[in-house]
Amino acid sequence: MKVLIPIDGSEHSRKALERGLELAEKQGAKITIMSVAPAAGTILDEMRNIQDKLNEEYRDWLDEAKAMFAAKGIEVETVFEIGLVPANNIIRLAEEEKFDRIIMGATGQSGLARILMGSTAGKVVANAPCEVTLVR
Ligand SMILES: Nc1ncnc2c1ncn2[C@@H]1O[C@H](COP(=O)(O)OP(=O)(O)OP(=O)(O)O)[C@@H](O)[C@H]1O
Ligand SMILES: [Mg+2]
Repeated sequence: MKVLIPIDGSEHSRKALERGLELAEKQGAKITIMSVAPAAGTILDEMRNIQDKLNEEYRDWLDEAKAMFAAKGIEVETVFEIGLVPANNIIRLAEEEKFDRIIMGATGQSGLARILMGSTAGKVVANAPCEVTLVR
């Protein structure tokens, strides 16, 4: 089973990683972890600096996640992209690489607790080509 875990550094996405780790350990699932840095625009120098910072942050989360699996002797693939609508990147990768399942947080960085589902989660649930698990 190929499992895609999109992460945004949030508490919920950390839980999604834990769920993925469990599946890898118990069922030998092949895990890919993806982070999509929000596109800040590229016209102004200042925006380029913001983009550099965002890229660094989202790459760091991938490194951390990779280390979390490596500590259990499990190798994972990581994918870093920059996108205006992260859900589109997630759905496209799931289609192209034929994932069987996506595990992600129900909410993320902006994490408004009263909201049932964040917009990235909502779009992925509505449009993914495979099973989607939302973790709380
Ligand atoms: N940029 C991203 N790259 C990878 N995964 C993401 C990204 N943004 C969100 N996710 C995944 O989607 C889950 C839900 O986050 P989502 O963005 O839907 O909620 P939110 O941040 O609370 O709300 P919103 O972004 O709509 O204001 C996260 O826990 C994470 O697994
Ligand atoms: Mg979000």
